[in-house]
Amino acid sequence: MSNKKKILIIQNIHEAGIKLLEDNPNFEFELIENIDLKFLKEKISNFDGISIRTAKLPAEIINHCKKLKIISRHGVGYDNIDLKSAKNNNITITITTTANAVAVSEHVMFMLLNIAKGKSMYDITVKSGNFNERNKLPKTIEIWKKNILIMGFGRIGQCLIKRCLGFDMNVFVYDPYVTKEVIESFGGKKVNDLYESIKSMDAISLHIPLNDKTKNLINYELLKTLKKSCIIINAARGGIINENDLNKALSENLIYGAGLDVFEMEPPSKDSPLLKNDKLFLSPHTAAFTEECMTRMAVETIQNIIDFFDKKLDKSKIVKL
Ligand SMILES: NC(=O)c1ccc[n+]([C@@H]2O[C@H](COP(=O)([O-])OP(=O)(O)OC[C@H]3O[C@@H](n4cnc5c(N)ncnc54)[C@H](O)[C@@H]3O)[C@@H](O)[C@H]2O)c1
Repeated sequence: MSNKKKILIIQNIHEAGIKLLEDNPNFEFELIENIDLKFLKEKISNFDGISIRTAKLPAEIINHCKKLKIISRHGVGYDNIDLKSAKNNNITITITTTANAVAVSEHVMFMLLNIAKGKSMYDITVKSGNFNERNKLPKTIEIWKKNILIMGFGRIGQCLIKRCLGFDMNVFVYDPYVTKEVIESFGGKKVNDLYESIKSMDAISLHIPLNDKTKNLINYELLKTLKKSCIIINAARGGIINENDLNKALSENLIYGAGLDVFEMEPPSKDSPLLKNDKLFLSPHTAAFTEECMTRMAVETIQNIIDFFDKKLDKSKIVKL
């Protein structure tokens, strides 16, 4: 019998990551795209390690995988994995801690600027031969000297603040778990009362995990208190903003616009009102989909698996269960 560790790659990743396994004599691997629960339950039970992107791993799958030692997440969020059963089965979960902060932060700036600058309005105007209509177009807005609230000051929040300061924005940070000193060392101002401080913001960007505390944190009651000029960006997880409430607030002109990279249900249903709302700028959970980031994530995902079996895994990559 082969002593090679068997690795299942669930959902394809950049070839740079796969090459690490191809070149390593201690591993063999299989790549699958089928993420049907029944199929996964049978399939994973034969493997020592898996890499996973967005597919769901509920308790019924994890409890069935007696051989499994490591689940390596391609990304940093792990709300698709049942943590309790992973802990009970002594399975290590790792994340790609160094790979995606830059790509997500750039995506937030892309969304914020896009909404402020009228999305494709100018491009459409020129390409449709209407250059001379430029004086009649709605005016766009600046982000210079505007107040932005970064909610969640972890890897992405700390990367985003530099980009916001580069645009001369006033940056406020809401993260009860990060000290005033740390926030100030990055050039931000710590905010303690979310509900009070949010009223004076021109922009809000979410970088917190989705959990029982943060689900529906941004709801109609809170949206009602915002400035009419406020822009909200969610490139964290769907469900932190209540989508029905957001749609209502936008339709009632309670806020200026919103950018969503993530949704309560992915993909959103075809008849979701979000898809028809002109004040929304949407992307299909692609904030981390730069060529550079996909390469980094694939390499880090697989390296975490190799390091785990080589007993060299850096503790910072392990999710505390
Ligand atoms: N759109 C994408 O493709 C994409 C890519 C990467 C990460 N993400 C998501 O972005 C989010 C942030 O990622 P990260 O790598 O910066 O995570 P991180 O763990 O480094 O940082 C999260 C921060 O949120 C803070 N926090 C937790 N609960 C909070 C609360 N209730 N209120 C305020 N702050 C709170 C924590 O103290 C921590 O500092 C995660 O939800 C992750 O899933 C999305």
